[in-house]
Amino acid sequence: MTVELTFDQFIKTVCPQRNLDWRKYRRASRRKVLARIHELGLSGFSDYAEYLNRNPGEASALPNLLRVTVSRFFREKETWQDLATTVLPLLFFRRATSGKILRVLSIGCCNGEEPYSLALLWKAGLEAQFPENRISITALDVDPDCLRRARKAVYARKTLREVPPELRESWFEPLREGYRLNPVVSRLVDFKLLDLLSDPIPGGQDLILCRYLVFTYYHGELQRKTVNKITQALNPGGILILGDKEKPGPETRSVIVPVSGAKNSYIAVN
Ligand SMILES: C[S@@+](CC[C@H](N)C(=O)[O-])C[C@H]1O[C@@H](n2cnc3c(N)ncnc32)[C@H](O)[C@@H]1O
Repeated sequence: MTVELTFDQFIKTVCPQRNLDWRKYRRASRRKVLARIHELGLSGFSDYAEYLNRNPGEASALPNLLRVTVSRFFREKETWQDLATTVLPLLFFRRATSGKILRVLSIGCCNGEEPYSLALLWKAGLEAQFPENRISITALDVDPDCLRRARKAVYARKTLREVPPELRESWFEPLREGYRLNPVVSRLVDFKLLDLLSDPIPGGQDLILCRYLVFTYYHGELQRKTVNKITQALNPGGILILGDKEKPGPETRSVIVPVSGAKNSYIAVN
């Protein structure tokens, strides 16, 4: 007789062997796994753990099934201050000689909060500071529902809690159901469906934001492979931005080095 696993026991069993950090998965991941169990007509977590062992295709899709979709505008404000005052000016100065468009990717863009924060930095100051330049922001996510919400650009108040008040007043319109980002800003971001684990990443990027994805949920070989893929999409001297709680480990320390004076910023050593 098999003893039925709880969700916690299930993730502690299936995650480590697949280079996933079980401690990071929340209630929403449990709901997604239960829906998948139901869809497959299986009896519960134990049954699904066995199914994963027998089906490599299902196992390689597990990181995406468990994915967590939480974000907010200007998450971790020091990173955004350093982007506005150090990282973006550095990249724009460099671009002044090598071409005028600065190319940016947000990988794991969730509902658009992260790429729109960048677009707000551009509209609220950098555009006037670097009138010769332009910015191209592409935002990628594996979750079609996130992309749908991102394109709608309407947000609950709590998602805006770190937006400086003057930006909120100038660029968001209060509605009954939340706040709509001004289309002058939302038009700057191009959203696309992409699975970081299986799709190629568009190359020639000057800046990539990949926060609370690879360095939070992936370990070991899975992390090393995806970080290599990301750094290869950067131009020489291109910069990768991570989250406050994400620190490169031994697998990736040789491919990304910290930028001094800019929090959570790393130069790719290609
Ligand atoms: C925790 S959220 C982080 C959002 C944002 N980067 C931030 O820091 O606020 C992780 C996002 O990565 C997306 N994601 C997970 N696996 C992915 C994959 N394989 N390819 C692309 N996006 C993925 C999820 O759908 C989710 O929107």
